Amino acid sequence: MEEIGRSQLAQARKIEEKDITGVPKDSRPQYHLSSPVGWMNDPNGFSYYEGECHLFFQYHPFSNTWGPMHWGHCKSKDFIQWEYLPLALAPDQEYDAGGCYSGSAMEVDGEHVLVYTGVIDRYLKDGTHDYRQVQCIAKGNGVDYEKYEGNPVLDGQGLPEGCSREDFRDPKVWKEGEKYYMAVGNCTIDGDGQALLYRSCDLKQWEFLCILDQSLGKYGKMWECPDFFPLGEKHVLLVSPQDMRARGYEFHNGNNSIFLSGHYEESTFKFQREGAKAADYGLDFYAPQTILAPDGRRILMGWMQSWDAKFMGGLLKWSGMMTIPRELSMRDGRVCQNPVRELEGYRKNLVEYTGEKINGMASFPGISGRVIDLQVEIMEFAFHHFAIRFAHNEEYEMLLQYNRQRNCLTIDRTHSGLVRDVVCRRKMETYPVLQEGREVLKLRILLDQYSAEVFVNDGERVMTSLFLTPMEADGIVFDTDGEACINVRKYDICI
Ligand code: FRU
Repeated sequence: MEEIGRSQLAQARKIEEKDITGVPKDSRPQYHLSSPVGWMNDPNGFSYYEGECHLFFQYHPFSNTWGPMHWGHCKSKDFIQWEYLPLALAPDQEYDAGGCYSGSAMEVDGEHVLVYTGVIDRYLKDGTHDYRQVQCIAKGNGVDYEKYEGNPVLDGQGLPEGCSREDFRDPKVWKEGEKYYMAVGNCTIDGDGQALLYRSCDLKQWEFLCILDQSLGKYGKMWECPDFFPLGEKHVLLVSPQDMRARGYEFHNGNNSIFLSGHYEESTFKFQREGAKAADYGLDFYAPQTILAPDGRRILMGWMQSWDAKFMGGLLKWSGMMTIPRELSMRDGRVCQNPVRELEGYRKNLVEYTGEKINGMASFPGISGRVIDLQVEIMEFAFHHFAIRFAHNEEYEMLLQYNRQRNCLTIDRTHSGLVRDVVCRRKMETYPVLQEGREVLKLRILLDQYSAEVFVNDGERVMTSLFLTPMEADGIVFDTDGEACINVRKYDICI
């Protein structure tokens, strides 16, 4: 079995190496991690090993659509430039032949340990369909990984009654004191989402501790990709529920990612939830995972796409990219996100305008581009609507529009070149903040060819969306139906 496994991995690596050369570098995002070839979804195994940051990802290198899941692999010294490494895992064992699904990683005694979900998906001789998800480990040296001969290390046998054994995936491991802990995504047999907590001394034998938190009909179905960490004075349980129902502007239909924040009593493993907020209010964000950097920063990366709107699939030789790594902080009980500070080292060619009064359409020399860090502060609000049209030319545009009366910000990709029948518009509640006695609305927009991440008021809220506008549409136009006063700063991001 192990022999067959090795040749399957070697074969996949060979194909990956060959096909990567067919993807021109400039067809991909410049400073966001994207799939080197083929399909990418969730970030996996976001971890440090021998002083470098590694990131793995759900990967189907053979086509630009989802297929039997491998683990792609890359590493970085600064979260911005990523070096691709040969893919790390192939679904080559009986217990993972249905896919090596999402998971996490950590350094243990000089080894890099990957903890992932193996999917068993087979028909038994009597015709029954054997479908289960089990937790597995693999150990390696930062390039090559060996699956543990005792896999799976955890199956659904010991799950409490009422817990699904089919949906039991995406282990996130961490260490506290001498013990390892693991959060796993799960749902009840009725499909209601929940996250489970386990403990171990050696990453091999796991003891079920408790159900950390549950949807109870409010926060969607199956909870995928849980992560659990302290932030400021609180603890955050980050989950990605499937099949949510929209609630105001807070959650939207479909796949969401949410921050559940509250108090965690370590001695009893009790998580007392106090709040629940969307992690991102845009169209394309899912399955985020965090890492604790050696300097104490908690950094998050998410898959910059959504399952129900896979409009990039099939159009290019690659599909899938990650968000900019985001530094998390807790402000007034809210999880805030800002681009990693390392990005600032790649900013060039500042163009700046201060205190510009505008009324109607306005554009400014030097304020344009598709690979930029754009900051706009709105300081006077004698208008109903204020719009920024970017990735703009006569035919195409992306629209970001602030409605002053409704205190709402809308992102709209209707005219961004899409020809698929997918959701194009999303809204979020947005208020100006008080700064030195006056109201200011602060927007920071990261554009990278096909993506926009809009950070509002120093990361209080974020909305992330993809679009497909041709690259020559690089104009930026401001547009108001009354008077506004703005500051604008633009940097090119040069890698
Ligand atoms: C989330 C997810 C995970 C699973 C993986 C499969 O996007 O559905 O739950 O492990 O993707 O690719």
